[in-house]
Amino acid sequence: MVLTPRLACIATLVPQGARLADIGTDHGKLPLSLLIEGRIASAIGSDIGKGPLAHAARNAREHGVSLSLRLAPGLDAVRPEECDTVSIAGMGGQTIAEILQAAPWTADGAHLLLLQPMTMVYELRQWLWAHGYAIERETLCREDRRRYVVLSVRGGAEVREVPLSQCALSPALLQAPGAAEYLRHLLTREQRALAGMEQASRADNGRLTEQRALVHEIEQALEGLT
Ligand SMILES: C[S@@+](CC[C@H](N)C(=O)[O-])C[C@H]1O[C@@H](n2cnc3c(N)ncnc32)[C@H](O)[C@@H]1O
Repeated sequence: MVLTPRLACIATLVPQGARLADIGTDHGKLPLSLLIEGRIASAIGSDIGKGPLAHAARNAREHGVSLSLRLAPGLDAVRPEECDTVSIAGMGGQTIAEILQAAPWTADGAHLLLLQPMTMVYELRQWLWAHGYAIERETLCREDRRRYVVLSVRGGAEVREVPLSQCALSPALLQAPGAAEYLRHLLTREQRALAGMEQASRADNGRLTEQRALVHEIEQALEGLT
């Protein structure tokens, strides 16, 4: 089973022998490829949609591997003792936060969470820090022209309230291979957004101040990296 670069990147972060729960599994390719390679001990694939689960079941049958399928929103059909690693990929940052919020056991520190938000990455970092999750590692990958970040997260950390303007990056992101290139890309995007706000006839002063702080934060981090 061939994984796209984004899913292949997440697969490399799953520990050998893990008991994986993949939420929003869709076609089930991530857990199935790890099962086929014998890299994980067991896998649950959960999804809110019947169609995706039928697709995953077909793929599992074709490859002759055992993927436990669950039809439910988020982690509703997964018990904490059934897994040690949870992947939630290809969804918006807000949906990922809502899924974790509805399953407080994910903050127990015993589960590794691999989170790959498609949008609202800053908001997801802010939410994680505010709810006692530590971002242990960030991994960058590219697929076609899009850039993705995968957060390796664990609960059991102290609660930290961090302003959104400081959530464009994290200490873990700065350690990631490719961080400087990623930050240059972010900086261009945020500078463009700032210019748009400054030109708007009715600028919101609070948002302008926040956006300037965000741009400054990224510039400073880039200086430290280069
Ligand atoms: C874009 S696909 C991502 C599939 C795969 N995880 C990936 O990264 O390629 C999103 C999947 O998440 C499922 N989904 C969306 N919201 C969900 C939720 N709250 N709980 C469980 N599954 C959800 C959708 O049905 C869909 O199959």
